[in-house]
Amino acid sequence: MCADQTATFWLTGLSGSGKSTLAHGAEQALRRLGRPCLVLDGDSFRRAVSSDLGFSHVDRIENIRRAAGVARLVNDAGMIVIASFISPFREARQMARSIVGDDRFIEIYLSASVNECEKRDHKGLYARARAGTIADFTGISSPYEAPDNAELTIDTSQLGAEQTLEVAMIYIETRLRIGNAMTGNPC
Ligand code: ADX
Repeated sequence: MCADQTATFWLTGLSGSGKSTLAHGAEQALRRLGRPCLVLDGDSFRRAVSSDLGFSHVDRIENIRRAAGVARLVNDAGMIVIASFISPFREARQMARSIVGDDRFIEIYLSASVNECEKRDHKGLYARARAGTIADFTGISSPYEAPDNAELTIDTSQLGAEQTLEVAMIYIETRLRIGNAMTGNPC
């Protein structure tokens, strides 16, 4: 029988570090285990909930405060959350942890460097930030404060998307005490 455990897996890292890919891969893996989850992703969360906010320090903190509040409510309802936000400020991640609850908040840091993410530049945002057409861009004109004590760090400049998912799911399954999502073996 599956343990009725819930948690918020909070993915932090630069734009292009692989957060959204991991979030949606983990969502599918958890669904295969009969543990549906809610993905809160920066881009869609901003469209749906934080469309009034930009990327200043204050606005980012407010964005994270809202996301953590939603995560808390969803966890309270018994559902797992995978939150995927750059969340560049330690202070804001600490706030998110206290809103969600220390026992449920699990920080996963995708640690690709600015250089690596800029090489990928799937959305063309780094190029625009370099050209000065996007202000306050994380890693270019706004800081990213790497976590000191994330529960899990994955270097996505070394691991591809599949391996990243594998490493993350081993950890997630252990934390949730459920079966192996990669092998399809339910708890
Ligand atoms: S956060 O800093 O408040 O956590 P969030 O994860 O919600 O950021 O949103 C990041 C997404 O917004 C990026 O993936 C990117 O697509 C887009 N974006 C637009 N402008 C910026 C910017 N100035 N800095 C970072 N991301 C930006």
